[in-house]
Amino acid sequence: PKLIVTLRDGEEREIDGSAGLSVMEVIRDGGIDEILALCGGCCSCATCHIHVDPEFAAKLPPISEDENDLLDSSSTRDEYSRLSCQLPFGPDLDGLKVRIAEED
Ligand code: FES
Repeated sequence: PKLIVTLRDGEEREIDGSAGLSVMEVIRDGGIDEILALCGGCCSCATCHIHVDPEFAAKLPPISEDENDLLDSSSTRDEYSRLSCQLPFGPDLDGLKVRIAEED
């Protein structure tokens, strides 16, 4: 499945992602280094913050309390903010568009 990522400078990249990885891992494995993912995906750093395309928001798993608290620590949070390590990627999300959040 394809993941379309908008980088901080506005450039758009298309990545062929493997199902079974998180969106964070797909972005990282796709050679994009704007996601720090300092905690390695265990929902404790918030450096994997992305904004998702509103069209896909309803297809994503609900935000857990931990994810919500972490997102609250970001000054750039909006209603489409998610932590990309908490989003399993797969065929149902083919064509998902995400934008890397600004650095806090
Ligand atoms: Fe740390 Fe997602 S990688 S919260």
